[in-house]
Amino acid sequence: VVATGIVLSPLVLDSLAAGTPAVDPPAVERRDDGEPIQPLPPAPALDARQVALGRRLFGDKRLSADRSVACTSCHDLSAGGADTLRTSKGVGGVQTLVNTPTIFNLAFNSRVNWSGTYATLDAHMADLSANPIVMKASWEGVAKELRDDPAYAAAFREAFPEGLTPASLRAALVAFERSMVTPNAPFDRYLAGQKDALPEEAQEGYRLFKAYGCSSCHQGVNVGGNMFQTFGVMGSFFEERGTPETDADQGRFNVTKKESDRHVFRVPSLRNVARTAPYFHDGSAPTLGSAIAVMARYQLGRSLTSREIASLVAFLTSLNGETPKGGA
Ligand code: HEC
Ligand code: HEC
Repeated sequence: VVATGIVLSPLVLDSLAAGTPAVDPPAVERRDDGEPIQPLPPAPALDARQVALGRRLFGDKRLSADRSVACTSCHDLSAGGADTLRTSKGVGGVQTLVNTPTIFNLAFNSRVNWSGTYATLDAHMADLSANPIVMKASWEGVAKELRDDPAYAAAFREAFPEGLTPASLRAALVAFERSMVTPNAPFDRYLAGQKDALPEEAQEGYRLFKAYGCSSCHQGVNVGGNMFQTFGVMGSFFEERGTPETDADQGRFNVTKKESDRHVFRVPSLRNVARTAPYFHDGSAPTLGSAIAVMARYQLGRSLTSREIASLVAFLTSLNGETPKGGA
């Protein structure tokens, strides 16, 4: 199911018809100006006290079993909401199976994680604490420990009628996540009519992005985040990558066990993408230019000139928004 006003290329329509599941995009106001990308809406209305608590929790190592890891260890707010590693280290130095995605603008994605494992941030949060690679803890355990901290206990009584409970801990973190929106990217200012906000080279990149069909998958307010697609539509990325295939490479197949979902991933948002190298679920592309070349080859069957790649890099860089302040 695709939002009205969005034109899909025959390639994408074919893959949808072949059974690749699409998901309903989030409910955001769409303008009928024929552009495949819409400006980022403001963050949803949230309780500022809950957001501030979520921000504190997000940087608190007491959320992990051995107090070695905070959410910010992997989702660094000053590094595009991710880190600069191919894969990250969680509790006990265990390596994550996939590249850490950004924490920004998640309110406008219709699914959570590379494989779209969860439909909502709340459902994701319920499982997150116990994840043996990430925190290896439990929300009950964390709540018990933080209740002994008078400052937390008091702030939670202010923000939640029930005070500090496993559920209110999760709710505060989700409120913080939903607040992490990056407005005022040069590209959004351009869409809003400020034509000089976008340098010539970036305008050329946007033209190519539409003409070559990148926008048939990366589209909507998040320039992605609203459908599933196969990685390797026009060629076998995994055979040619040069490293053995892993379980994580099976993508959405791991969630649904359907053969048609093998190598299928959520199309990622490209907002702030210039800040979140390396790229792809496996972190295999070290630079934005190399990621673009892989996309052109395996998703569109095209090889790009270095000039075209430079234009596309300029366009994608114009999707960098303001890092949110968050908190109170
Ligand atoms: C050890 C590194 C690490 C830590 C610590 C960590 N994360 Fe993550 N996070 C990841 C990885 C890797 C993924 C992608 C998992 C996947 O797609 O299967 C992810 C995914 C997410 C997502 C979904 C993003 C998306 O694009 O859908 C959210 C939300 C998130 N993490 C929030 C948190 C919160 C909140 C904490 C702290 C409680 C946290 N993370 C701690 C590595 C980490
Ligand atoms: C058929 C759908 C499709 C098309 C067309 C497509 N992409 Fe993608 N794109 C994806 C999917 C799916 C991924 C996630 C791949 C993975 O890592 O598993 C992705 C990932 C990316 C990434 C990496 C994002 C990150 O955070 O790691 C970039 C950059 C990107 N695409 C840019 C482009 C550009 C530029 C074009 C046009 C040349 C394009 N894409 C065309 C589906 C598509």
